[in-house]
Amino acid sequence: MKNVRKLQLRDIVDPDNLGRPRGHLTPIEELTDVPFDIKRVYYLTRVPENTSRGYHSHKKLEQVLICLNGNIKIKVSDGKTEDVVVLSDPAEGLYIGPMIWREMFDFSPGSVLLVLASEHYDESDYIRDYDEYLRCVQE
Ligand code: TYD
Repeated sequence: MKNVRKLQLRDIVDPDNLGRPRGHLTPIEELTDVPFDIKRVYYLTRVPENTSRGYHSHKKLEQVLICLNGNIKIKVSDGKTEDVVVLSDPAEGLYIGPMIWREMFDFSPGSVLLVLASEHYDESDYIRDYDEYLRCVQE
């Protein structure tokens, strides 16, 4: 789907000098690991079971979603087709560009969704009405 793609982020697992694991490190640099300048970061935590979020599109905003803990499902649609992406790997990002409807659901207990965004918060960039969204993408 245009304007939606998975990004494989770096996953650095260098052991100590005795060969013992030290965990995973994922660096994210703007324009290197994500395709935009990062102007804003936010995260979702403690989302109750059976709670869905999102239900909007953005006119211009670009975002990368990363599940830092647990697993989270993201439904994306371009108004014609839809996909459900499961995020569970902290070294995987989901790029969502302009004019993509998104819904986040099935947050596992303790899950954390990190979002990197290309612009500051701007309510006028949101399309929150699904019928209006469909009208805009079908133009
Ligand atoms: P919203 O984007 O609607 O969240 P979701 O899509 O996850 O359901 O934002 C929820 C509220 O938080 C809304 O009142 C706007 C506010 N908000 C900010 O103030 N700054 C931000 O960067 C974001 C993303 C939201």
